[in-house]
Amino acid sequence: MDNGHHRLRAIPPPRGHARVYHGQFAVSELVRTVLSYGVMLRSTRAPSCSLPLLFTGAISLALVGCGDDEPAGDDAADSADSGATGDGTTAATGSDGSDDGVAAEVTYWQDVKPLLDARCGSCHLPGGIAPFSLQGYEDAVAFGPSSVPSVLEKTMPPWQPNDDCATHVGNISLTDEQIDLFMEWIDLGMPEGDPANEGAPMEPPSAGLTRIDQTLSMPEAYSVQSAPDDYRCFLLPWPEEYTTTKYVTGFGGDPGNDKTVHHIIAFLASADETETYQQLDDAEEGPGYSCFGGTGGPSRTWLGAWAPGGGGEDLPDGLGVAVEPGSTIILQVHYNALSLDAEPDLSSINLKIEDSVDKVAFVVPFASPAWLAGGMQIPAGEPDVMHEFSADIAGFVGGELTIYSSALHMHLLGSSGRLSIDRADGSQECLLQIDDWDFAWQGTYGYPQPQRLSPGDEIHLECHYDNSPGNQPYIDGERGEPRDVGWGEGTTDEMCLGVMLATLD
Ligand code: HEC
Repeated sequence: MDNGHHRLRAIPPPRGHARVYHGQFAVSELVRTVLSYGVMLRSTRAPSCSLPLLFTGAISLALVGCGDDEPAGDDAADSADSGATGDGTTAATGSDGSDDGVAAEVTYWQDVKPLLDARCGSCHLPGGIAPFSLQGYEDAVAFGPSSVPSVLEKTMPPWQPNDDCATHVGNISLTDEQIDLFMEWIDLGMPEGDPANEGAPMEPPSAGLTRIDQTLSMPEAYSVQSAPDDYRCFLLPWPEEYTTTKYVTGFGGDPGNDKTVHHIIAFLASADETETYQQLDDAEEGPGYSCFGGTGGPSRTWLGAWAPGGGGEDLPDGLGVAVEPGSTIILQVHYNALSLDAEPDLSSINLKIEDSVDKVAFVVPFASPAWLAGGMQIPAGEPDVMHEFSADIAGFVGGELTIYSSALHMHLLGSSGRLSIDRADGSQECLLQIDDWDFAWQGTYGYPQPQRLSPGDEIHLECHYDNSPGNQPYIDGERGEPRDVGWGEGTTDEMCLGVMLATLD
């Protein structure tokens, strides 16, 4: 079952798969999906589940009943008198509800609209990256039931970090209360309620990019050359008007074609690295050159990353990444398109820039040097290969460090990863843990309280890979056979990288 799980998440989902949800889904398709998810939920979320799965209109009810250790029905009783106003599906949640609870019942306008707008709407809008819209009552009703497995399994909204590891800013995942509320609405038959009682909008998870000083765009529009996935790097010269060191204090991505751009990573290359990238660009026809895990060149400095739904973000107060005159930004764009006929893309990044900052921030890429020299073997067929590395980077640079954000980077075989601090006093602090690695959703995760790192403290990085036959990525529509894999930039190579934004104090 675990393999099946990883298989679902480790492959960047081609849009063809999600397309199922565009039109009317066949009931049998839904049942099959829910069955496979249901079995998984029973084993992971609810060891004490005793309800049989009911394949009637009450699929979601059966899952809810299984998904909680408390007796089914308590949930509903907590938040409202759940008079079963819907299609009277079953009694799983409504059995203890009374008929007089209409005023307190969960409705679209009052409860669900604010939730869907704030936690789904940035991606699930007409023409957006997600395969269907969740805006407006009709869309919510059309796609609410088929969203149940993703909501219960917490794969939607996409939020990779394990929240027990550390608290991160900008957390868009649903709380258990919000999940219960959504489920209750579904169970009640998705009542609309009264638009006059529309609930107040929910707070956005982050303030976003507060000012745009510079927009840098791809040199020309690009049409995908492979589907469903095309990874392309574009050179964005640093503007010549900047003749002195500048500091980037905020970053936002602006995809040109919302339907095909799946993620954007901006790397910073110094003036003397630029020539290498120019050669890579010149060697291929059309704008840019193909690249996968990184830039195909020496730079590992992430200036910023964008994934769907991300409106951009300021760096923590007083912090900036230095950019010298003559630098180049390498924009890596992951396109996910159904066919080669997709509209061309012209993406940009927006930057907030200052002449000076209180503290210069460094992007610290963290990996074992031995891995790059061939020491990171992932043998064919192995379902769980682990590579780990520890180093005292504060000791190495001879000073105190502060860590503001961190990210993990693996490729398609990656299954889970963890970045932590082993303190000199023997204690351990978790920085970032991703239990179900998905290449398609890599992000950078900031801390409300930055982490201190003193000489003697070690950064510990751990990556797990599933190289079994069931977890092989689809490349150009074909599922590969397991093969021995090692460190490299290609789609079928792997990496294990921690990336931290830090200052030296
Ligand atoms: C950050 C963008 C984003 C947010 C926020 C988001 N989705 Fe999605 N969603 C996607 C994308 C993109 C897909 C297409 C599949 C993929 O690429 O993973 C998708 C696919 C889905 C699917 C199809 C099945 C699946 O899991 O792939 C469902 C159902 C879904 N979303 C429901 C929701 C619900 C409900 C919410 C809010 C509670 C939500 N999504 C929030 C981007 C988002």
